[in-house]
Amino acid sequence: MSSNSPTNLAERYAYLQAELARLEHAYYVLDNPLLPDAEYDRLYRELLDIESIHPEWVSSESLSQRVGGAALKEFDSVQHIVPMLSLNNAFEDAELIAFDRRCREALHVDIVEYAGELKFDGLAISLRYEDGVLVRAATRGDGASGEDVTANIKTIRAIPLRLTGKMIPAVLEVRGEVFMYLRDFEKMNQQAAAAGEKEFANPRNAAAGSLRQLDSKVTARRPLSFFAYGLGDLKPQSWLPSTHEELLNAYVKLGLPVCPERRVMKSVVEILDFYNEVGAKRDSLPYDIDGVVYKVNSFAEQAKLGFVSRAPRFALAHKFPAQEALTTVLGIDVQVGRTGAITPVARLAPVEVGGVTVTNATLHNEDEIKRKDVRIGDTVSVRRAGDVIPEVVSVIKDRRPADAQEFIMPIRCPVCDSHIERLADEAIARCSGGLFCGAQRKQALIHFAHRRALDIEGLGEKIVDQLVDQHLVRTPADLYRLGFNALANLERMGDKSADNLIQAIEKSRNTTLARFIFALGIRHVGETTAKDLANHYGSVHALMEASLEDLLTVKDVGPVVADSIVSFMQEAHNREVIEQLLVSGMQLTVEKKEISPAVLGKTFVLTGTFPTLTRDAAKDLLEKAGAKVAGSVSKKTDYVVAGVDAGSKLTKAEDLGIAVIDEAAMLGLLK
Ligand code: IVH
Repeated sequence: MSSNSPTNLAERYAYLQAELARLEHAYYVLDNPLLPDAEYDRLYRELLDIESIHPEWVSSESLSQRVGGAALKEFDSVQHIVPMLSLNNAFEDAELIAFDRRCREALHVDIVEYAGELKFDGLAISLRYEDGVLVRAATRGDGASGEDVTANIKTIRAIPLRLTGKMIPAVLEVRGEVFMYLRDFEKMNQQAAAAGEKEFANPRNAAAGSLRQLDSKVTARRPLSFFAYGLGDLKPQSWLPSTHEELLNAYVKLGLPVCPERRVMKSVVEILDFYNEVGAKRDSLPYDIDGVVYKVNSFAEQAKLGFVSRAPRFALAHKFPAQEALTTVLGIDVQVGRTGAITPVARLAPVEVGGVTVTNATLHNEDEIKRKDVRIGDTVSVRRAGDVIPEVVSVIKDRRPADAQEFIMPIRCPVCDSHIERLADEAIARCSGGLFCGAQRKQALIHFAHRRALDIEGLGEKIVDQLVDQHLVRTPADLYRLGFNALANLERMGDKSADNLIQAIEKSRNTTLARFIFALGIRHVGETTAKDLANHYGSVHALMEASLEDLLTVKDVGPVVADSIVSFMQEAHNREVIEQLLVSGMQLTVEKKEISPAVLGKTFVLTGTFPTLTRDAAKDLLEKAGAKVAGSVSKKTDYVVAGVDAGSKLTKAEDLGIAVIDEAAMLGLLK
């Protein structure tokens, strides 16, 4: 701002309103952000600053009004000048064919043009713009009158407070659907769960609940969105284009959000194609829909067709199968995941949901069962949306039988009989038999062979799959008993590769204690912790016998890590596998640190390809000498060691003025 003189400030204020409106439109309507969020925030704060100096400038269309205002006692009632009707539904193709025939016959034409669009699963809203300014928003209510939710609607950033463009009618009532994107819905529910608040059953309920808040500040925090699809009051009538599709195009020009998933069609065949195509991608759409809608495209023809009772004769909703259905819980089992996570699963009386028969639904975890209060015998609502696993949404409490039973988390793993344990601070219960459990077998072996663990080259996912599936290997100890023939018989394994793998396994017998501890795959024990544990205990047996209190004395080991180690080592199955490994001739060395004073306590970042060392080898050398090796460059970095083809890390180091050295210089420091 060049000066604070009132005219300039007023100009600046007007500029900010327009600029922020343009940015919001790009972000929320076009899904095409123009500036980083921080820049938007800066302009927005400037607007607020000006408004605090000149409160008299703040109008109802200022973008600062998006945060909501004072809470209401109740909603005012709003009379709809043009009633808000509902749509007739069709479920079968035959109903659709009959609809098209009725339209053609009533209009005395051979071909009727239809505008096809999605049927959004939210709630209908009417937005009244006078001279381009949003003055009122109302819910549908009983169709004749609804509730005044203007303050709430203004918090929805996809809805313009002022229309843009040149052709703005004096009065325009835009009809459309308020809804919530699935990703926003999930995020909101996660936050609600974390805060111990009630979660919403589905995006539709979340949208409806959010819009019917008397306190618009609450609505402002809910991620609502909007699509326009219809028209109410209009002045002058001469503004009206001749077709529905043109109306929607005009809406786009006015800055209103219109869903791009639409099509103009001329026959039943085309209509059915549209229905099937949308049906096929329903699960991958970012919002819920419950069908598609066909509207006779020409407004003149719409007028001729008119209405029957409360629904237009010129439109039809063609519904998809429902995504939620009621059924009963026959039992609750637990499943064991690849990481040992125990997931309770409801076994259900078979029920059709969204065109698929569902017999199981996830209950996520113990807390979730408690929160939803799901019991065996209950009638529950099951939801299947997108590619996600079906889940139990809610319990119909008044249908609960007297003998409904509460779920009790089993104490032993259904796969391997190890103890099930829930670590401090975790929502998920886990099987503690990490080295032994059949469900975790593949994951455990892949981790065991990892480059930074026992580094068994050639033992990748595909080989592990075959070894486990053919019952050749159950635990890491079995690897050391594998013969050449067993390996050579595997798919895509030649004699040469089998030989190499045998040698790699042999070689892995000589390793460090730290690598061995890391390879065990104890939850929360990463590479660095494994090194600390190796240095502290000096042998596997000492670690196996360590008590919780003792573990807490190890550098950087907190209660969660200590708890995890104890429960792993308490599991007899794991101890057996460790003993077998030791008996099979593992040579575990404790790497003595060879501290180089020049690098002690310094932080290094490695980037690019070095002439002699691999990055892993360089990392090991540095750590052995007392240095830290970090993954990204920051102000705390002391040296960046750059090889050939070093990328953004090098640039960043140069920007921050951090010392950049090559491999030779690094080796020099280590001497
Ligand atoms: S047109 C005169 N178009 O479905 C027809 N409605 O049963 C007015 N809906 O209350 C509605 N998507 O909430 C229309 N593309 C769409 C729609 C749609 C969802 C909802 C709307 C309405 C209900 C009608």
